[in-house]
Amino acid sequence: MSTLLPPAERIWWKEPIEGVELFWVAIALVWAIVMFIMMPYWHVYGKQNLSNEAYRTTTEMYGKKVQAMVEQYTVRKETARDMPVVHPPAGADVYLLARLWEWYPILELENGKTYRLHLSSMDWLHGFSLQPENINMMVVPGYETVIKVTPNKSGEYTVVCNEYCGIGHHTMTGRIYVK
Ligand code: CUA
Repeated sequence: MSTLLPPAERIWWKEPIEGVELFWVAIALVWAIVMFIMMPYWHVYGKQNLSNEAYRTTTEMYGKKVQAMVEQYTVRKETARDMPVVHPPAGADVYLLARLWEWYPILELENGKTYRLHLSSMDWLHGFSLQPENINMMVVPGYETVIKVTPNKSGEYTVVCNEYCGIGHHTMTGRIYVK
């Protein structure tokens, strides 16, 4: 029987199943169950699937919160775009904003301190990928996602956008410093 033609029998699901097909269905089913079990496993024992909180917001509301933090805690400016480097107090709520095509602002955090990191988008879907740690979160407009982060290594981290967001997607990188 060709897959290009409609089934010869209208009640096709009552036809006997080919052994090899059944074999592949069984493999797919077993693999689906394995992956289903691994999701909670990775959440508990892995380092990448973080617990998060999510709240409804608007671009205006979120933009204001980010701007308030930037105005209060900017310590210097960097890069050709005069990007503010913000150093909020240890343990504070810190905000990162995604938009076409940048991460705003640059955050400067302290090693060993725990922060609530807020993420949201000003336009459409972006992806927060923290390198080289490989922490990944979706950044969705209209939602404020909060994750708890405790940096444990000093240095410079790169934020890469890992959801395709248009012509400037590949230039959408940001920075987080840990002191
Ligand atoms: Cu933002 Cu891709």
